[in-house]
Parts: sequence; C-alpha cells; structure tokens
Amino acid sequence: MSAKIIDGKAIAAQIRSELTERISELKRKGITPRLAAVLVGDDPASAVYVGTKKKTADAMGMASEVIERPARTSFAELETLIRELNARKDLHGYIVQSPLPDHLDEAALVDLIDPAKDIDGFHPENVGAMTLGFPRFLPCTPAGIVELLVRSGIKIPGTETVILGRGNIVGRPMSILLSLKSPKGDSTVTLCHSRTRDLAAHCRRADILILAMGRPESVTGDMIKPGATVIDVGINRVDDSSTPKGYRLVGDAHFPSVSEVAGAITPVPGGVGPMTVAMLMSNTVMAAEAQTSRP
Ligand code: GUN
Repeated sequence: MSAKIIDGKAIAAQIRSELTERISELKRKGITPRLAAVLVGDDPASAVYVGTKKKTADAMGMASEVIERPARTSFAELETLIRELNARKDLHGYIVQSPLPDHLDEAALVDLIDPAKDIDGFHPENVGAMTLGFPRFLPCTPAGIVELLVRSGIKIPGTETVILGRGNIVGRPMSILLSLKSPKGDSTVTLCHSRTRDLAAHCRRADILILAMGRPESVTGDMIKPGATVIDVGINRVDDSSTPKGYRLVGDAHFPSVSEVAGAITPVPGGVGPMTVAMLMSNTVMAAEAQTSRP
C-alpha cells in the first residue's frame, strides 16, 4: 500500500478541542449550547448517527436531546414540532435526520426550520448564502471534508476535483464549496451522477476524488490517478457472517486496490464520519454565540 491514511478521527478531535474554550466562554455567561436531533422512524443507521451526535455533544459539555417519532408520523405533526423547536429560547440548533419515511416531503419540512437554528446548513436560505460565497451555516459533511483536506496539507486551488454523487447532503454542496473563489476552493469541479457517461474516465482525471454515491466498493484502483487524494464518504453495510453484528462497514472505494494507487485516502470508518459530527458541534457553538450576542 502506498497511500497515506487521512486520520479523520484525530482531525475531528482537534476541531472539538478548539471548540472547548468557546463553550466555556458561553457557560461563563450562563449559556449552555443545546442541540436537538429529530429522528423519525426506525432506520438503524440513522439511530446510530443521531446517538453519536448526542454523545459527542454531551461529552463536550453541551446539552442535547433526541426527539423520536414513529415512522407513521404525519407532515402536520412534524410541522407542529418544528414550529415548537423554532420558538424555544433554550434550544440553539437542531437537525431533522435524513432519510425520512417516504410519505414525508423532506424539502418542505427543511423549509420550515428557522435558518438561525439550521445547524445542518440545509435550509434554502443557508444554501443560497453558501452558493453566493457568504456562508452562515455550512453543511457539515462538505465543510468537514474541506477541513480534512486543508489540515492534511492538501492544496485545493488549481486542482481538478471529481465528485461522484449529486445529493443535497454531500455531492452538490461539495461541488459549490470547492469551486468558490477562495483559498479553500478555486478547484475545477466535475459533478458526476447516475447519467454520467464513462465515469472511470472522469475519475482518472481527478487530483481530488470525492465518493458520495453509496455504492459499496464500486471505485477500484484502475480508476485512480496515481497520487490522487480519495475522500470516501460512503458508509455501506455489507453482510459478513464472520463479524459479531453480521455486517461490516465499507466505503464506496475498493480500499485494497485504491490505496495502492492513491496518494492519500480516508478510511471507512474513521475518515469523513467523525468530521461531520465535529462540524455539527462547531455549527451548534456558532448558533449559540449568534443567538446570545443579540440584544
Ligand atoms: N443523513 C446523512 N447525513 C446527514 C446529515 O449530515 N444530517 C442529517 N440531518 N441527516 C443526514
């Protein structure tokens, strides 16, 4: 193996430790940053992600809550909940964990979130601000990937970035952030998706390759430019009867072959995942600071 392993766990720990002083400062003023996560239905992966977010917040001395609702919950019931969360003075930020059950219009619900409490950065107002280069809350996974690159010493300006996957949570906002006129952007970005012809040809041009389509081990070493940086956002459960849980986690990259060719690669788990959580904590602290500095 030739690729350097980018240690997302260690970089995320660094980001969390940089937040502790700001949390202490808020607490000195009598304010404990508080976040909530709304979890609808019983998707096991979502339950794990939300649990990790809560545990991380608690360990940092912030306050947190998970608001669970059954899969059959109606749009109107969630609208009522969101309006309550918007009105609560003690709650600085919250997220609605995705995916939601099929009968719920996710975009319409996100539109109801107070943009000042939208610590996921998913509200159209925050997406618009990011797109114009005036960021408020940045979406956690793309912002975390930028931090991973910068803190790993990987230069972004002037590179060719290829992103696989155009979803609203990772691929699309990632394409926007990396193409902004900025020392953390200025990359030439190609956004690939299910209708892209010759995916492999695009991948082979990439200095930075970002995998966010959720297809286990589908990108192989022959698709990688030698020395490229590979950021693997995929977290896929594949059956494995030799493990206690009956499954193991793999990324969208076929790690054994990709790591032979790439210059640097994020592992799954321990790469992008911890960065997403750290950036959510960062957005929560930002929300608490902004809301408590108002007259
Ligand atoms: N589902 C997968 N990633 C995310 C995320 O960052 N935020 C929310 N709310 N749902 C997700």
